[in-house]
Amino acid sequence: MKKNFLIHTFGCQMNVHDSEKMAGILTESGFNEAGGHESTDLIILNTCSIREKAEQKFFSELGRLKAAKKRKPSLKIAVAGCIAQQEGEDIFKRFPYVDYVFGPNNIGKLKGWIDSAITLNPELGTYNTANRQQAIDIADNPSYHTMGLPVKREEGGRAWVSIMYGCDNYCAYCVVPYTRGRERSRPVEDILHEVRTLSANGCKEVTLLGQNVNSYGKNLSDGADFSRLLYVIHEAEGIERVRFVTSHPKDLSPHLVTAMKVLPKLCEHIHLPLQAGSDSVLKMMNRGYTYNEYVEKIQMLRAAVPGIAITTDIITGFPGESEDDFNMTISALTDMEFDGIFAFKYSKRPGTAALQFPFHIEEDVKSDRLAKVIELQESITSGKNRRLIGETLEVLVEGASKTDRSRLTGRTRTNKIVNYCGDKEDIGRLVNIKILEAGQHSLFGEKI
Ligand code: 5AD
Ligand code: SF4
Repeated sequence: MKKNFLIHTFGCQMNVHDSEKMAGILTESGFNEAGGHESTDLIILNTCSIREKAEQKFFSELGRLKAAKKRKPSLKIAVAGCIAQQEGEDIFKRFPYVDYVFGPNNIGKLKGWIDSAITLNPELGTYNTANRQQAIDIADNPSYHTMGLPVKREEGGRAWVSIMYGCDNYCAYCVVPYTRGRERSRPVEDILHEVRTLSANGCKEVTLLGQNVNSYGKNLSDGADFSRLLYVIHEAEGIERVRFVTSHPKDLSPHLVTAMKVLPKLCEHIHLPLQAGSDSVLKMMNRGYTYNEYVEKIQMLRAAVPGIAITTDIITGFPGESEDDFNMTISALTDMEFDGIFAFKYSKRPGTAALQFPFHIEEDVKSDRLAKVIELQESITSGKNRRLIGETLEVLVEGASKTDRSRLTGRTRTNKIVNYCGDKEDIGRLVNIKILEAGQHSLFGEKI
């Protein structure tokens, strides 16, 4: 009898794509995606530890699974992702009903675990604690970036493609270098092969994925760098749009700006996290650039790529952030006029440098500052979106809108979400939409 699986994904695109890899492995091993908790034999929680809130969400979900395991003792529970890497064996101590813990660099080991769990426990239906096998895979895996794992993607003409893993930047607030390990780049040929295979299967848009795509190639011996990779990927027939996330301002090179200017498939959007407008905060954060250097890069991008959309990340209440420092973030948002931002309150993360810094900011001050940032940006984003009314924009249709199933949803080249009433046959295709209405988070239009 076929077994079923469920994956619950927390966190960023990296995790979303990792879950697609897990689903790929499980599907190749004969599992089906389950319709709900009752019908599943395996639940994987793919976790995020970037901020405390994400962690809390996972711990309450895992707590709820205790009852599910009691009801169905044969249910296997696996914890993957950044919390798995960070907490390791401690997860078994706190949650003894967890069967398997594996980190982001050990996704490939999932296959071995499924096979052994099934062999060791042939009657999965008669779960028995005495012969219970708990397993853990969180060791460093230096060859992970060369592994070609199967991937089960959502339909809709677009796909994530990993180009590098890990991060070496050690921003003072960030846990990623500890959970995802050292920076490693995938060989160009492997990436190109994956993109060509996607194109052969009808994919129109690829998003190249890494914590800091601009430092792509540093560990490769063939001199590859990110802009050269873009020229190579650009040649893949059938692919009509290329995107990438995330860029680090300190590594954004003039070569990349040129590539964005001359390669027509590269979409007019960049996500370039600023984090803060004050140089002293940026220094404490170990970001490696000043506000003026950031501004120069934006000016370069805007001059080279007319109409480019720029989005960013902001942290409020980093340790030591004074009112004056915070006001520099407010001025930066006013001056830069980003198309959109992701803003967060600073969150203490285990093992990070900032944890030891003096002058941590009180929660309510962090929250007040966050609210101010969000309010300001909402008016900027609304204004920018309103200016699009009347324009006709190319949209890659992804599927039915999650909030209104009668509408289709897709994205412009500038990464704005557009909804419209249309035929399901449009899914996976590029269509032209005239914008009629503009909201805070999406646009609405009609097909031309
Ligand atoms: N607290 C708040 N925000 C954080 N980010 C990363 N670590 C933290 C933290 N400890 C934010 C940064 C980053 C985004 C992915 O998450 O803005 O760019
Ligand atoms: Fe974290 Fe900084 Fe690396 Fe981004 S660049 S993942 S914020 S350490």
